[in-house]
Amino acid sequence: MSNPYAQHNEQNKANFDHVYDRPDPRGYFETLGSLDYLAPEHGRRLFPTLLQGVSAGGGPSGVLDLCCSYGVNAALLRHDLTLDDLYARYALPELADLSTEDLLDADRTFYAECRHPSPPEVVGADSAANAVRYALRAGLLEAGFGEDLEKTEPSEAFRGSVGNTGLLTVTGGVGYVWERTFDRVLKAVARARPDGRAPWVATLPARLVGYGPLSDLFSRYGLVTERLSSRTFPQRRFADATEREHVLRQLADMDVDPSGKEEEGWYHADLYLSRPAGEASKVPVDELFGTTGALDY
Ligand SMILES: C[S@@+](CC[C@H](N)C(=O)[O-])C[C@H]1O[C@@H](n2cnc3c(N)ncnc32)[C@H](O)[C@@H]1O
Repeated sequence: MSNPYAQHNEQNKANFDHVYDRPDPRGYFETLGSLDYLAPEHGRRLFPTLLQGVSAGGGPSGVLDLCCSYGVNAALLRHDLTLDDLYARYALPELADLSTEDLLDADRTFYAECRHPSPPEVVGADSAANAVRYALRAGLLEAGFGEDLEKTEPSEAFRGSVGNTGLLTVTGGVGYVWERTFDRVLKAVARARPDGRAPWVATLPARLVGYGPLSDLFSRYGLVTERLSSRTFPQRRFADATEREHVLRQLADMDVDPSGKEEEGWYHADLYLSRPAGEASKVPVDELFGTTGALDY
């Protein structure tokens, strides 16, 4: 269960560790925004359809967002906001000099004013404990855990908080988290849910990620994994030539055509969806979004 992407992250990918665990999200949005990072925007557009699918199958309504950072996916799923709105907000000159405490006060008001009438409950986990704390204090998460599940078993509090998980989401995190984390999380969710089942799992990994080990793991929890074939999702611009060359080399090894995508200077991600076999066989992932227009952007 060793993680083949740990080395890629350390050697070939731009390093964003310095903004992952600050007391508040301003540096995160500034740094990721400078590379046009888009993964949470794709989640905003895709995940509501998946939550409807979970609910149609009788699953619970909550989301467990792994690698939740400062609660970005929760902010977008629970509020009438786009990722561009968040980039604009955290770049406002009048917020630049606020203390973290004052920013938290302002954010609580800001989010309360645009919350959806019945927002999904989102539980978050990330190894960056400060980021999770911010998301919790801003009112974005129902519960949040600064835990590194690649290294340790989930805490009792985590295990006690994931029983309402119908959908497990990861944007921008697959590769940081791998089989060990997913195994621990799926086990915890299945044990906590009254029906004893694993949740749907929706992730948007970069196309150089070989998903086979995760699909195999998910199948041990009764989940069938599909990749959306109708489109890919621009994730962010390459930070430099090292990233670009490494990604193009990896894709060539995998026989993946980068034209019009990575060749244009962007990481592209695939949507992978894993669902209980009975549900996956009813509607393939490519049809799931068919009439919703959720893919048309
Ligand atoms: C690119 S950010 C994505 C954050 C958020 N999901 C988004 O799309 O904006 C990657 C996140 O993975 C987290 N991360 C890295 N290693 C991790 C691990 N072992 N366990 C949990 N989270 C991890 C980082 O702290 C960071 O918040």
